[in-house]
Amino acid sequence: MIKKLFPVMAVLALFSCNSEIKKENHEVEIETPKVEVINHSYSKLEEVKTIRLNLELSLDVDNRVIDGVARHHMKNLGFEKAYFDIKDIDIKKVTLGKSNNEIQTNFEIGDYDSLLGAPLTVDLSKTDSLINIYYSTSPDSEALGWLSPELTGSGKHPFLYTQGQAILTRTWIPIQDTPENRITYSATVEAPEGMLPLMSATNPTELNESGVYQFEMEQPIPCYLLALTVGELEYRRLSENSGVYAEPHMIDAAEKEFKDIPKMIDAAEGLYGKYSWDVYDVLVLPYSFPFGGMENPRLTFLTPTLIAGDGSLVSTVAHELAHSWSGNLVTNASWDDFWLNEGFTVYFENRIMREVYGDEVAEMLSIIEFQELQNTIDDMNSKGENLDTHLKLDLDNRNPDDGMTDIAYVKGAFFLKTIEREVGKEKFDEFINAYFNEYKFKTLTTEDFIEYLNSNLLTPNDITFNTEEWIYGAGIPDNVVKIESKRLTIVQDLANKFKTGEPLPKDLKRQDKTTQEWMAFIRAFDGELSKEKMMEIDKQLNFKNSGNSEIMSEWFVLGIKNDYKEIRPEMKAFLVQVGRRKYLEPLYTTLADSEETLDWAKEVYKDARPNYHAISFNTVDEILGMK
Ligand code: BES
Ligand code: ZN
Repeated sequence: MIKKLFPVMAVLALFSCNSEIKKENHEVEIETPKVEVINHSYSKLEEVKTIRLNLELSLDVDNRVIDGVARHHMKNLGFEKAYFDIKDIDIKKVTLGKSNNEIQTNFEIGDYDSLLGAPLTVDLSKTDSLINIYYSTSPDSEALGWLSPELTGSGKHPFLYTQGQAILTRTWIPIQDTPENRITYSATVEAPEGMLPLMSATNPTELNESGVYQFEMEQPIPCYLLALTVGELEYRRLSENSGVYAEPHMIDAAEKEFKDIPKMIDAAEGLYGKYSWDVYDVLVLPYSFPFGGMENPRLTFLTPTLIAGDGSLVSTVAHELAHSWSGNLVTNASWDDFWLNEGFTVYFENRIMREVYGDEVAEMLSIIEFQELQNTIDDMNSKGENLDTHLKLDLDNRNPDDGMTDIAYVKGAFFLKTIEREVGKEKFDEFINAYFNEYKFKTLTTEDFIEYLNSNLLTPNDITFNTEEWIYGAGIPDNVVKIESKRLTIVQDLANKFKTGEPLPKDLKRQDKTTQEWMAFIRAFDGELSKEKMMEIDKQLNFKNSGNSEIMSEWFVLGIKNDYKEIRPEMKAFLVQVGRRKYLEPLYTTLADSEETLDWAKEVYKDARPNYHAISFNTVDEILGMK
């Protein structure tokens, strides 16, 4: 950053480490050293770091702005500057000290980076430890999903939800935005009338008269787990410590769909010990939510596309619940170690599904995931991105979201499954229990994990294992566990016979098979099936109107590839309604493959884009070449 600063001497006193550059016309320019970026953050935790955060927030829904004060209680190891991350946030003033005795202090905002935002540097004395930042967000703040009333169920009130992971918390709170640090927090939120605010903290279950709500999170969490939602919401209790929130029109369906949550909690606790967060609630968001689920502590956020009517998509809930151990309790130190969060969670999710729904279901889920992993690896290899097939990544200067692939999730889970096979379930369970216990409320790197694995499992049991190959090598090592499922083989055979001319059994109905069986059936066509045959299937099984988002998205992709235009009305309705990136990405990517389908996609996107969260429309903009 080059700044012209006058008077030079005074400024030099402030920025004693700046270097002077003499230009030919004798004007003096000062080059402020760039604040170093470590793990996608400008914060220097080793100098001054937040321990506890008190938030005071009020919402201006008409202008899509949050006005806030972030009061940071810091541990100051004797430094005179504190560093925070901000992006699309307007800093009004910064003060030091308790709220009845605040003294304004100087701050500086560094260069803006389109990925990381900017460093906010606050001056303080070596003994100061309370920094109050007065700010407001901007309508562009990427974490914030604002919905106008038309996009909600009742159409009466607007809606807001945040998405912090990976590095978006800095777009709604000035904060040291790295998973390396853990903080506790409290919040006071002023909500508009008729709207209930909820956070990743202790939550109300109904509206109060004042419209002001208090929140508390006593356990230290990494700040990507700070979350807020405000909308017209109802609550239904499922058990003493669990329940579901949803918009009124969805609450009955949500309660029914997620009725097994108490069983899942029991299963998880049976495997890896007591749930640490007291309450486990889930919140069903409007359709624009860009993910399947997000593990905000005490309050998992879910997409409404999980509501299929028959409980067939609840493995995502098992996944988010599993994060209460892997991710929220034991956290990746940097986004390069993301597989520690997600690989463990996919492994754990499958163990929960096995306990609650049996071996067959768990195996089908694993095979479906493994197919996706193989496709991802093929795709990465064909693009020359084989470094991205390593579990340990190097995401410096890249968006940490680039690591959100099947590698971290599925290769990570199969790595653990493979160790489990080598050492036996009993020893492996004991090891994972000890690991969660050792690292609870801490963060760790991949290297910390390798060391722990060697000294607590492999060396004591005299086992040699190709850990390094799994973690630092490309693709899938040969010793990977192979999983088989008779039920999936049956539907794959059915698909192959149908493709070569045999009709479907006359009495076969969609209800006869599970979601995973139908997914395997559709995938068995390997992208090729004539329009006529697709029509025949739709006539008998009606995939395009199944209301099951997993089946519909697979079916639509096959349809686009085979010029089966009959799906277009349903596909358009799906694309306009659903903002979940996992579905949008393959659909728009396949549509972008030919000129005619690309034109159609662009037309649809005009209606669809306003319904998507920034995380999703940024991805789709790129796919459609609009960036
Ligand atoms: N924590 C992730 C979501 C996430 C990851 C958001 C990285 C932003 C950056 C969440 O637990 C997740 O993995 N969701 C999956 C569902 C799961 C069943 C694989 C999703 O949304 O698809
Ligand atoms: Zn996850």
